[in-house]
Amino acid sequence: MATVPIPQSRVDDATPVAIVSGGSRGLGLAVVERLLERGDRVATFSRGRSGRLDDLTARHPGELFATTLDAADPVAVASFVGATIARFGRIDSCVANAAIAAEGVLATTADALIAELLAVNIQGSIVLVRECVRQWLVQPRPPTPDGTGSAVMVSSSVAARGSPGLSVYAATKGALESFARSLAREVGSRGIRVNCVAPGFLETDLSASLPAGDRARLVRRTPLGRLGMPADVVGAIDFLTSRRSAFITGQTITVDGGGGF
Ligand SMILES: NC(=O)c1ccc[n+]([C@@H]2O[C@H](COP(=O)([O-])OP(=O)(O)OC[C@H]3O[C@@H](n4cnc5c(N)ncnc54)[C@H](OP(=O)(O)O)[C@@H]3O)[C@@H](O)[C@H]2O)c1
Repeated sequence: MATVPIPQSRVDDATPVAIVSGGSRGLGLAVVERLLERGDRVATFSRGRSGRLDDLTARHPGELFATTLDAADPVAVASFVGATIARFGRIDSCVANAAIAAEGVLATTADALIAELLAVNIQGSIVLVRECVRQWLVQPRPPTPDGTGSAVMVSSSVAARGSPGLSVYAATKGALESFARSLAREVGSRGIRVNCVAPGFLETDLSASLPAGDRARLVRRTPLGRLGMPADVVGAIDFLTSRRSAFITGQTITVDGGGGF
């Protein structure tokens, strides 16, 4: 992980702090923007930087901590969460968004690709949430019954619906939904909430390779008549990481325009 100086000035600040993995582009970047807009301080990571994330960091000095690391490296993920706590003093919500997708029939999918999908999408997300839960178990609870921390796992509508050529990717998302249901039961008594958001097909880099014919078919099958944009999904994540959803845990909200697959 890249080293950054840690200003201590805001460590005692009670302003909410959100962690968002994969904030350099696509849905993660849109979530980072929304959470900054609502007044949170935000920490994010990705393997690379992007111009838009660099601009955002320059516009929000002291409020946005962005660094580079690989979600598949559990030591780096734990160290990032530690650096976030050292910098901001607390964590209030966590959005496990970073993921990779790979399309192809299972029969020709190599071991290395399967291992990478599992390491980034499942292990990376689970380790991130584990580190946040460790913090939430020791972080003072607010004097309201609204809870201590909220984790949101970014799943996909293919987890529930299935899609040919996406079996391994879909399995990683199904694992996150299953993880969220059990963890919600495990930590609910401590005021910690765990939910999922399952987007349908979105217009992002992840889906850029979709052939035009497949794209047109998806649009035809979507009741709301278009593919989703990151902005369409951000509202559900904003809601689940806010006190407005204080009595919701162990759930998956599907945001797919009515179902396109
Ligand atoms: N796009 C869709 O159609 C769609 C549909 C349903 C669900 N989703 C889900 O929505 C989430 C966001 O997808 P998106 O479309 O916004 O994807 P995207 O445009 O490809 O962005 C993915 C983000 O995750 C980061 N990332 C990927 N691998 C990483 C790794 N190993 N370590 C650290 N960061 C990593 C990327 O940055 P670097 O590459 O620089 O690391 C980037 O910031 C994902 O969980 C995806 O599965 C997407």
